Amino acid sequence: MYRKLLSTCLFLGLLFCVSAFATEKYTDAPDSLYLLSHGTNGLRFAWSTDKQNWHKVGNGDVFLKSDFGAWGSEKRMDDPYLIRGKGGQWEVIWSVNEHSLQFAQASSKDLIYWGPQSYPYVKKCKNVLKPVISFDRKTGIYTIVYMDAAHQYFRTTTRDFKAYTATQEVNATQYRTNTLQVKLAEDTVMGQVHRVSWEVVNALNKSHQLRQLKALRNAENTGQDPQRFKGLKPQSAKLVVQPQQAKTISNMLIGGFFEDINYAADGGLYAELIQNRDFEYHPRDKRFQDKNWNAKHSWSLKGKGANLTIDSVSPLHINNPHYAVLSAQQAGAALLNSGYDAIPLKAGDAYDFSIVLNFFGKAGVLMEVRLVSEKLGVLAKTTITPKGSGWQKYAAVLQPKVDAADAHLELQLLAGETAGIDMVSLFPQKTFKGRKNGLRADLAQVIADIHPKFVRFPGGCVAHGDGLDNIYNWKNSIGKLESRVPDRNLWGYHQSLGLGYFEYFQFCEDIGAAPIPVLAAGVPCQNSSTGGGGQQGGIPMEEMGAYIQDIIDLVEYANGGIDTKWGKKRAEAGHPAPFNLKYIGIGNEDLITELFRERFTMIYHALKKSHPEITVIGTVGPFFEGTDYVEGWKIATDLKVPMVDEHYYQSPGWFINNQNYYDSYDRNKSKVYLGEYAASVPGGNKTNLETALAEAIYLTGVERNADVVHMTSYAPLLAREGHTQWNPDLVYFNHLEVKPTVSYYVQQLYGQNAGDKYLPSILKLTSTAEEVIKRVSSSVVVDSETGDLIVKLVNILPVAVDLEIDLAGANTGTGKVMKTILAGKPSEREARPVVSELKDTSGRIALQPYSFTVLRYKKH
Ligand code: AHR
Repeated sequence: MYRKLLSTCLFLGLLFCVSAFATEKYTDAPDSLYLLSHGTNGLRFAWSTDKQNWHKVGNGDVFLKSDFGAWGSEKRMDDPYLIRGKGGQWEVIWSVNEHSLQFAQASSKDLIYWGPQSYPYVKKCKNVLKPVISFDRKTGIYTIVYMDAAHQYFRTTTRDFKAYTATQEVNATQYRTNTLQVKLAEDTVMGQVHRVSWEVVNALNKSHQLRQLKALRNAENTGQDPQRFKGLKPQSAKLVVQPQQAKTISNMLIGGFFEDINYAADGGLYAELIQNRDFEYHPRDKRFQDKNWNAKHSWSLKGKGANLTIDSVSPLHINNPHYAVLSAQQAGAALLNSGYDAIPLKAGDAYDFSIVLNFFGKAGVLMEVRLVSEKLGVLAKTTITPKGSGWQKYAAVLQPKVDAADAHLELQLLAGETAGIDMVSLFPQKTFKGRKNGLRADLAQVIADIHPKFVRFPGGCVAHGDGLDNIYNWKNSIGKLESRVPDRNLWGYHQSLGLGYFEYFQFCEDIGAAPIPVLAAGVPCQNSSTGGGGQQGGIPMEEMGAYIQDIIDLVEYANGGIDTKWGKKRAEAGHPAPFNLKYIGIGNEDLITELFRERFTMIYHALKKSHPEITVIGTVGPFFEGTDYVEGWKIATDLKVPMVDEHYYQSPGWFINNQNYYDSYDRNKSKVYLGEYAASVPGGNKTNLETALAEAIYLTGVERNADVVHMTSYAPLLAREGHTQWNPDLVYFNHLEVKPTVSYYVQQLYGQNAGDKYLPSILKLTSTAEEVIKRVSSSVVVDSETGDLIVKLVNILPVAVDLEIDLAGANTGTGKVMKTILAGKPSEREARPVVSELKDTSGRIALQPYSFTVLRYKKH
């Protein structure tokens, strides 16, 4: 046994600093040893041969973390209690916090791979503390006993961790625990002791060491290059294309991921310039943590004798319950709104102003509307003369004659009067494609310039929301603006839903991208902090029918004839023709629990039955591995879901070291939509040329596998400076400027140089060192529409690569060869593509150090 142990440890020891387990010598090695399970905020292990001297397993690292609740404040694992149950399977339960009437449970065969966690509800108690589990082999029943804050004891039982008996109060004698206190290094820890074979501990150590090895590789970065590549000479290389082995690949590989995060919608892509135009900001948007966040947010009073209140009696629309009441004792006082940071104005451009007013039966009250620059004074104005009674809409066009970066809107009553105010709006007429209620032209254009083949919306986590009451309901986002139902944005602000499903569909059509709406799989975000259940609770079964009908109605809204209920609504919104919806995402990186499985399966079957023409995209969790990934794939495979959505945000080192991630994917299973990914510099979450090149090199591997990877989208897409909850993002912006990142240009180069045929090739460098060859990669595709041949070349070495390209007759065109290079220092954030014509016909090209080169051999 000792020899077996030693040989395994030696192997791993070569890779890494070896743990205490591998270095200790045992003269009297028994066949089995003691394993202690313990931990706070994670299940850890220690081993001992005598129950006296304990040694950490895997350096004391965590082997299971709790997934309960929101990031930051939750994900707690208190007092884990581990036993061996049916068939020797490990079962662990723990307490999740001091207030939930739930405990957590997970199972494992080997203590390394853990199945989905469940969070059963219990009753009668104040909370669930120190739960203890036991298993009766004769009856096959698990008994869980716990205490609560009132020092009372409770019991529930289960056979399968799905159905539990009703919670019963029991007396303290029923609370029996095997928990021991042991001394482990400098600490004293509490846990359960199990007798296990050496293999169990050995495997745990091995898995920990492999994790460390991966972490080291993932941490590889260009800062280490002077050391790593000391003395490395410029490389020579040859690329030989193999046109005879061409394969068909997806022609939809590059798309856009749009989520209302970082003020990407209101204050971003949605061109509305007035913030909180409907006075619906609500303290709950910020979880009642910000005393300035309320219906008056973004509005202020100027001048004397004015009063601003918020009322909700006889509102304009029941879904838009609040409005402002401006009372002026005298002329002169005004109500101000500075939009998002400020209102930017362009000389000569026309702006559509509109407002809904109620003068409460008074005639003759005039209101002056002005666009005012802090520096330049009044730039445009108009006067509103009341018409009719009750709520009335007024509109005017304002046209400033000079540019201003610092404007605000002023509404001034010209006499001492009172007005009810709602839906105050200012839109540039120059929206993207001139659409009414349209999109900010420069931001929409920057997205269009990627040539995305699809756009996914409205998220991300926004799609499944933070709790059951926050699931995005597409029906709330269509129709008249005042009838839409605004909501809390889980990223800590407000969604007006002015940019709703109609506008998303319209935008997709305007840029020639397939629309990909993503809807919740009947469960909210895996990090939900509201509604209990950690993740969820899930939509109650009795409400699932209505929820599924909403999804089916969406297909009718997008594609149905104008004689259908929902198709008619689309036509009324101005689009009688169908939007040609082909894909629907169900779920967003959810916790793959039983709750999820049940609901996803119901939705999937119903959608497949009513709309077999729609490709349903399932979800496989937030990571490229782990429980949700494994379980999500299992569900997708069982149900034969046509496509799944994968997500991973990783370091540049991970992307470089995982270029072959999809090489071994089973071609007969679901296709992949890599719906969210990005490389970022660990620690700062920044993006630069290094992260962009890591994405570029990874995408060469994705293109190679684009027979299985159907679509990809970098995430997130947009971020307003100063209002950013997530970094990095593809494009930053403020009220004046749009600032694409280097990663943006990688997306653009791939999007603009997409192909539908992949030509395998062999790339050989002078060096055969793995460190070197994994940093140079290529991808060759043909775009059948133009006949152009495209060669993408990535070099993440600090030295140039002199490359000879043998197209082996693949290029049959006579047109120019265009060369685009994105290069610079790895830390550069301003690197931009430089385009030129490749005049050199020798077939040789020098790949600059740290560069991404695209050669486009034009057919004509
Ligand atoms: O892209 C930002 C967030 O990342 C998305 O909302 C979520 O799906 C993922 O965790």
